[in-house]
Amino acid sequence: MIALVTGANKGIGYEIAAGLGSLGYRVGVGARDESRRETAVGKLRALGVDAFGVPLDVTDDRSVTDAAELVERLAGRLDALVNNAGVSGEMGPGWQQDPTALDPEVLRTVVDTNVMGVVRVTNAMLPLLRRSASPRIVNISSSVGSLTRQADPDTEIGPIMAAYAPSKSFLNALTVQYARQFSGTNILINVACPGMVATDFNGFHGPRTPEQGAATAIRLATLPADGPTGSFFNDDGVVPW
Ligand SMILES: NC(=O)c1ccc[n+]([C@@H]2O[C@H](COP(=O)([O-])OP(=O)(O)OC[C@H]3O[C@@H](n4cnc5c(N)ncnc54)[C@H](OP(=O)(O)O)[C@@H]3O)[C@@H](O)[C@H]2O)c1
Repeated sequence: MIALVTGANKGIGYEIAAGLGSLGYRVGVGARDESRRETAVGKLRALGVDAFGVPLDVTDDRSVTDAAELVERLAGRLDALVNNAGVSGEMGPGWQQDPTALDPEVLRTVVDTNVMGVVRVTNAMLPLLRRSASPRIVNISSSVGSLTRQADPDTEIGPIMAAYAPSKSFLNALTVQYARQFSGTNILINVACPGMVATDFNGFHGPRTPEQGAATAIRLATLPADGPTGSFFNDDGVVPW
């Protein structure tokens, strides 16, 4: 089985790659920086994972096209695609993004990575996924993208993040559209929330380890044929949209 994980050089993406590798997947380590990518590939190989590096900047059309060509050349198909690469965008005072002071350029950068990046990569990899007997796509989102949770005054949803949180709501909505399009095919596509994980993303604040954060994505990347599609999960089960 062959998987590609975007943003796999560190954090949750690295642990998704390690977890799929330990299940016997051959894993493409999608990462934009050559040195960080090769270091991650080396660490994974030292763990016994059959890993290969895939130069990939999800905001760059050409990079994405080249990545698809490389995966085709090295592996010939894809069984699992995990769209993990993501950014928070510049944060303001108190690690917040105040909507009333939001720079549209920050919003544009976040959407380009967290939303359009997923569309670029998914659509470029689809011909390779269609060659699999059991294609799985996992989009890494966040419960801060849950409109239901944000609208509930009793839910602890964290700081205001006017660029990041809506980018994940957008990604969630987009995933539903893909699931509708794939209806009646063998492609299962779902959203995973890793929980609050200590990574570079949040200055290593968070009660969960990257390995714990990777678990739901690994489960969704390896779903059986009768598994769910078009749904949003964390470790506890279904997250409301
Ligand atoms: N940490 C949390 O508590 C948490 C909670 C909910 C959801 N998430 C989501 O989980 C995912 C992984 O986050 P993380 O916590 O593991 O953060 P991280 O340690 O900062 O890792 C983010 C990864 O995305 C990559 N990336 C960013 N922009 C990219 C681009 N344009 N092209 C390719 N790769 C790019 C980074 O590469 P570089 O090293 O080159 O920057 C890095 O590999 C993100 O989608 C995030 O939104 C995280």
